[in-house]
Amino acid sequence: MNDTFHIAVFASGTGTTLQRLIDSQDRYGYRVALVVVNRECMAADRAAKAHIPTLQTKDWETIDNSLRAHEIKLIVLAGFLAIIPNWICKKWEGQIINIHPSLLPKHGGKGMYGIRVQEAVLAAGDKEAGCTVHYVSAEVDGGRIIAQSVVEVQSNDTPQSLAERVQQAEKQLLPQIVGRLKAGD
Ligand code: GAR
Repeated sequence: MNDTFHIAVFASGTGTTLQRLIDSQDRYGYRVALVVVNRECMAADRAAKAHIPTLQTKDWETIDNSLRAHEIKLIVLAGFLAIIPNWICKKWEGQIINIHPSLLPKHGGKGMYGIRVQEAVLAAGDKEAGCTVHYVSAEVDGGRIIAQSVVEVQSNDTPQSLAERVQQAEKQLLPQIVGRLKAGD
């Protein structure tokens, strides 16, 4: 049994969140021991560069076995654009977290990802945007909220400018929360 706090990061896109998790490992005392991707993406290239074992598959039995083989204690969804099957949610209950670029429960649910979220924030005339780290449950973006970070909306914001500030906030918040969960908080 390994004492290091091993995390697995699941990603589908450019992997800038994964990169921040890799870069923050020493500061917060966890280890990215496995990266899971469901398609070819930049996140997989980043994992390879950091010499982190990477699994590219859509087969959940294979993923589950690999999580156990790598003694994973926490799964972090970082821009992973696939629905987690119910049986995985149940088996890993309390051990899967997700980062979402809005102040949930606002602007969440199926189809709400990336720039669409900030478009919805601006269309709703919200004064505050931000991001949420939450536990993953069978309901998309519906699990218990762990922490949020608020970003003020400015009158001249475009979806892109707002998304940039929200992503900065995400990258501060997520490694911190992994560190907190490692400490058992
Ligand atoms: C992040 O901004 C994350 O919040 C978002 O995808 C981005 C991943 O970027 N996730 C969602 O919208 C989930 N509903 P990255 O690939 O550069 O890390």
